Amino acid sequence: MTHFLDINKTAPSDLRQMIDTARAMKDARAGRPKGMADDAQPLAGHMVALIFEKPSTRTRVSFDVGVRQMGGQTMVLSGTDLQLGHGETIADTAKVLSRYVDLIMIRTFEEDVLLELADHATVPVINGLTNRSHPCQIMADVMTYEEHRGPIKGKKVVWTGDGNNVCASFLHAAGQFGFDMTFTGPETLDPERVFIEEARAKGVNVEIIRDPARAVEGADLVVTDTWVSMHDSQSTKERRHNQLRGYQVNEELMRHAQDDALFMHCLPAHREEEATSAVMDGPHSVIFDEAENRLHAQKAVLRWCLGV
Ligand code: CP
Ligand code: NVA
Repeated sequence: MTHFLDINKTAPSDLRQMIDTARAMKDARAGRPKGMADDAQPLAGHMVALIFEKPSTRTRVSFDVGVRQMGGQTMVLSGTDLQLGHGETIADTAKVLSRYVDLIMIRTFEEDVLLELADHATVPVINGLTNRSHPCQIMADVMTYEEHRGPIKGKKVVWTGDGNNVCASFLHAAGQFGFDMTFTGPETLDPERVFIEEARAKGVNVEIIRDPARAVEGADLVVTDTWVSMHDSQSTKERRHNQLRGYQVNEELMRHAQDDALFMHCLPAHREEEATSAVMDGPHSVIFDEAENRLHAQKAVLRWCLGV
């Protein structure tokens, strides 16, 4: 079964092929109304279940639109719609859904739910975000970087703030696409050691530098994300804000990066917290291209999973 569970679990050649396909599909439908079908209809006859146990704007809409553009059909299900939210086992859910649909995309809390679903499903499963990773986002981000600046291989990416699920997928991508990564944030919010070690083992340079200005020195890409993720308890909000305030991406911080550095944020953002509007809407920012490219990158992921 060809699941898309994480960037570090997918071969670099397959990742590269998906980025190239995404780019070609984006070019092929340039200027078309969003609801107009692609010329090729590789998902014709396919039914896709989109399960959300957490809120979503981009993932939900981009998967739904992407499947339809390629001729497939979707059903969007919330965790509480399903018996899964009322005690049915993940294994039984996976086996039952596999009898009705051709692919399952799930956004959930614990990574184990995703892995168990994938273990028992007889159709491909896509990770639409867990507490631990967000691979679809970083496929769109790699595509976006390359669209603006060419190959990401060998570039310096700086992650500033919380070493969270999106940061983890960036570290996975560093190893697979061959770029260097610097993390800057408080020690208590470092990315998991295993993600850092794994990227290093693949030959890329991963550094932790506590001083954000020094970390961003020479960056080709500066990335941040919310200081409080959906799985973080609201009771930690004040402590996190206090710890992370010094890691805000503002114009002063961006001055330390390369002149042509890009700025990314997966969104949703808390403006004036992790990043200022001056940066988010400024000349380095490609945040809305990232959001758009979720659509194109995921269409390529769907085709790869289904072999169509
Ligand atoms: N970036 C992202 O995944 O956004 P949503 O939570 O809106 O899906
Ligand atoms: N780190 C964020 C990403 C949202 C797309 C979260 O998990 O809430």
